[in-house]
Parts: sequence; C-alpha cells; structure tokens
Amino acid sequence: MIISCANQKGGTGKTSTTALVAYELAKKGKKILLIDCDPQTNLTQLMTKTAAAKDELLIIDHTLFGMLIKNIPLEKGIKPVMDNLDFIPAASDLNMFSRWLDKQKLTEKEKVTYLYNHIAPLENKYDLIFLDVSPTMSLLNDNVFMTCDYIVIMLQTQERSLNGARDFIWYLQSNLINQFHAKVNIVGVLPVLSKRGGSVDNEILAQAAYDLGDENIFKHKIMQMERVKRYDLTGITDVEKNRWDKETHEAYTQVAEEMLERINNGTFES
Ligand SMILES: Nc1ncnc2c1ncn2[C@@H]1O[C@H](COP(=O)(O)OP(=O)(O)OP(=O)(O)O)[C@@H](O)[C@H]1O
Ligand SMILES: [Mg+2]
Repeated sequence: MIISCANQKGGTGKTSTTALVAYELAKKGKKILLIDCDPQTNLTQLMTKTAAAKDELLIIDHTLFGMLIKNIPLEKGIKPVMDNLDFIPAASDLNMFSRWLDKQKLTEKEKVTYLYNHIAPLENKYDLIFLDVSPTMSLLNDNVFMTCDYIVIMLQTQERSLNGARDFIWYLQSNLINQFHAKVNIVGVLPVLSKRGGSVDNEILAQAAYDLGDENIFKHKIMQMERVKRYDLTGITDVEKNRWDKETHEAYTQVAEEMLERINNGTFES
C-alpha cells in the first residue's frame, strides 16, 4: 500500500506528518518504507538525524534520481532508520528528474508511470510505503501520485488554502484519474490548525466540512506543537519520560490510526 500526504501549498506539514505517522506505525509493528521524493530533501535530513539519534549512521551512496536514471533497483538505496522503518534518501539532483524524463523516448503513459515501475518491486516487502512530495505540480509529482494507492490531503486552516485543496482534488481527477486511469484514492482531508480554537481555523473547518463533506474531514487534527519543529534539529526523539515527546507521539499515533481506519473503511465520498 503506497501513501502520500499532499497538497499544492508549501510548508503545510507534509514532511513532518509523513515522518511521524510512519514512525508511529513502525513502532506499532508495521513494516514501513519512507521514500523522499522531494528535491528539497527535508525528509532525508530528518531521517538522517533520526537515525543518528539512534546511533545508526545513514550514509547516502545512492540517490533516488541516480538509481532511477541508471535503472539500479531501488532496493540498493534502502537505509535502515530503526526497527521496522526503512528509508530511501533523495538529493537535490532530483530537481532534474522531470526534465530528464520528459526527454526520454517514452509514451505519455510510460512517462507518468516511470517511478511506479521502479517502486513496484518493493511493494510486497512492506505493509506501507510513504512518499514525501514537494508542493509543486510537475512530472515528478504526477509520477508520485500515479504510484500512490492513497493520498491524504493536508489542509492548512488559513485563508485560500481550501481553494488549494479543491484545486488539488480537481487536478488529480481531471489529469491523472481521467487521463491515465490512476488508481489513487483520497483517504480524507487532514486539517493542520494554525491555532488551537482560532476563529479563522474554525470557519475554514466549517466551510471544508460543508464543501467537501464532513465525513471526509479527519476527526483528529494536527495541532501546533513546538516539539515537531525541534525534531528538525534533533531528529525524532522518543524519551518515554519526556512530556513533550509523549504528547507529540500520542497526537500523531491518533492521526496514524485514523488514517488506517479510513483506508479500511473505504475512502473519500464526493
Ligand atoms: N504540528 C506542527 N507543529 C509545529 N510545527 C510544525 C508542525 N508540523 C510541521 N511543523 C513545522 O512547520 C514547518 C513546515 O513543515 P513541513 O516541512 O513538514 O511542511 P511541508 O508541507 O513538508 O513543506 P514543503 O511544502 O516545503 O515540503 C517545519 O519547520 C516544521 O518543523
Ligand atoms: Mg516537505
């Protein structure tokens, strides 16, 4: 099962949510692979630090782009981060993927499914594979979405972001599902709150429930937590006696559980 947390807007918590949800599921015994599909490489940095915090040295010998263009099996690039959690890193060379792929003598369909064909051999080795994406519309991201079975739409509760979520759903439907028969399903809309109980947040949540269907909005929301920002510096830490670690992991565990429940119960209804 291949999943991505996505939207068109930058800085909405895609990478942090992907990393933490994957982390919580790995802790619960699911076998997880994370793949950094964003040339900004934020997930690679976070996972390198998380592995180091667990005394696991993560040395990057193969980048995702390097393996893709040389037809090296992606299995060769897998790095262990901790029990049940593996990772494939990216570097900024991934910026060249869309242009490189566009120049290949391939059909349109072959171009949008190029990544999937490389990831498919790994599918049965893991319970879940998470792909971290950049906030752009590109041939690279089309490849990511064509690879996914499920997409979680991140909705930052700020002005105009609801339009972004709508546009994104429309883009998936009209470009990838209608044109290339993408298998992708939308798991639901996961709100990222800018302020606990903020009035703008509540108004946008109400509007989202009205527009997109209340049942499609995650009950568990992503709250602002200083600890998540700290993880960018320290890697993900998990000290049992630390109140902030505990609170953060509990919050993302709830989101992870709701994600799996939604997948099991059928997805987005429009
Ligand atoms: N729940 C949270 N509480 C507080 N800060 C958060 C939370 N989630 C993410 N952040 C912080 O917000 C910033 C953006 O988060 P993140 O990198 O996950 O977003 P993104 O959507 O992946 O960004 P991009 O679109 O650039 O890939 C980071 O500094 C991150 O530490
Ligand atoms: Mg990101």
